[in-house]
Amino acid sequence: MKAVRYHSYGGSDVLIYEEADRPVAGEGEVVVLVAGTSYNDADSGLRAGLRQDLLPLAFPHIPGLDLAGVITEVGEGVPDWSVGDTVVALLPADAPGAAAEYVAAPAEALAPAPRTVDLADAAALPLVGLTAWQALFENADLKPGQSILINGAGSAVGGYAVQLAVQTGATVTATAGARSRDRIRSYGADRIVEYAVTPVVQVLAGQHFDVVLQLAPAGPEENARLVDLVADGGAFVSVTTPGPPDTGRGVRTVHVFARSDATQLAELVARVDAGELAIEVAERLPLVDLPAVHARAAGRFARIAELAAQVEGGDLAERLRADQAVVRAPAAAGELVGKTVLIPMSSASDTPRH
Ligand SMILES: NC(=O)c1ccc[n+]([C@@H]2O[C@H](COP(=O)([O-])OP(=O)(O)OC[C@H]3O[C@@H](n4cnc5c(N)ncnc54)[C@H](OP(=O)(O)O)[C@@H]3O)[C@@H](O)[C@H]2O)c1
Repeated sequence: MKAVRYHSYGGSDVLIYEEADRPVAGEGEVVVLVAGTSYNDADSGLRAGLRQDLLPLAFPHIPGLDLAGVITEVGEGVPDWSVGDTVVALLPADAPGAAAEYVAAPAEALAPAPRTVDLADAAALPLVGLTAWQALFENADLKPGQSILINGAGSAVGGYAVQLAVQTGATVTATAGARSRDRIRSYGADRIVEYAVTPVVQVLAGQHFDVVLQLAPAGPEENARLVDLVADGGAFVSVTTPGPPDTGRGVRTVHVFARSDATQLAELVARVDAGELAIEVAERLPLVDLPAVHARAAGRFARIAELAAQVEGGDLAERLRADQAVVRAPAAAGELVGKTVLIPMSSASDTPRH
């Protein structure tokens, strides 16, 4: 089969579209014909080796955390899934990913794919949708009637977070740029702050929210200013760089690391099929373009990595200082904006649309 793989950590130039062995289903696994995967900044972090102390990869490695596709083989000990079922999943980061024609996926990560959107587009849901869900309901413990500021609502995580927070009955203030503001308004946000016009901390100075959800890359000072917008006893929940550990006002600061959860993913899918949750896809590209997608994301990934190193220091900062080339891949024309879905050739025409 064709796959995108890398044989060592490095910049986007380590990614190669090449022939790889087709996987077989082990115990507790299914093999899925991939209809789509999607790009996440976490794919760049893994490729660059920034988390190799926590998540060492076996080479050659196939990237791609998000999966949508059709089951073609069912392994031992998988009673609930059959050949032909359409599924979505957030795959384990240290196993071969979905940037391939086929992938072996743990059955415990699978949820039924939505029936109301193109199957490949469903690959835009798992990681970012689960991140939004876990940040709002596990970490922030958002309740009806509460107020929430979602900083970076124009991001893929943010689109889902705004829709879920509105459905919960929260009052939602969202920061968005010109590209995203109309879409975020259409999701029902009560107030939009155009962050590129006036800094959000200036526009909202003196106001307080039960929850501030940080989805934009930020340094320690900016996070500290956003924490000032949290009401006493509220929560600052960041999916990017962590906030200060002790605010002195009973404000909880939480750093989110999204994880696979098939039950939550199935709930997200049910909302998609009920017409309550829109999946936003900015670009659909053939899988062979994945190296170019990583190259186009290099600028924003370098910013994220630098801010993470500033806040976390330690091994991550050392690694970034030692090898800037790894995150500063050659600048590529057309920076990546919005969610990008990658479609293998074998699925471009012959997989079901749902
Ligand atoms: N911790 C985890 O488990 C986890 C999981 C997934 C993602 N993440 C992280 O979460 C962040 C969002 O991920 P994503 O994939 O959803 O990103 P994305 O779709 O690429 O988000 C980019 C968008 O974020 C908005 N943005 C950027 N800087 C901003 C700022 N300073 N203020 C307000 N908005 C800003 C912009 O929206 P406009 O179009 O409105 O300008 C931009 O288009 C990334 O940093 C990613 O690494 C973390």
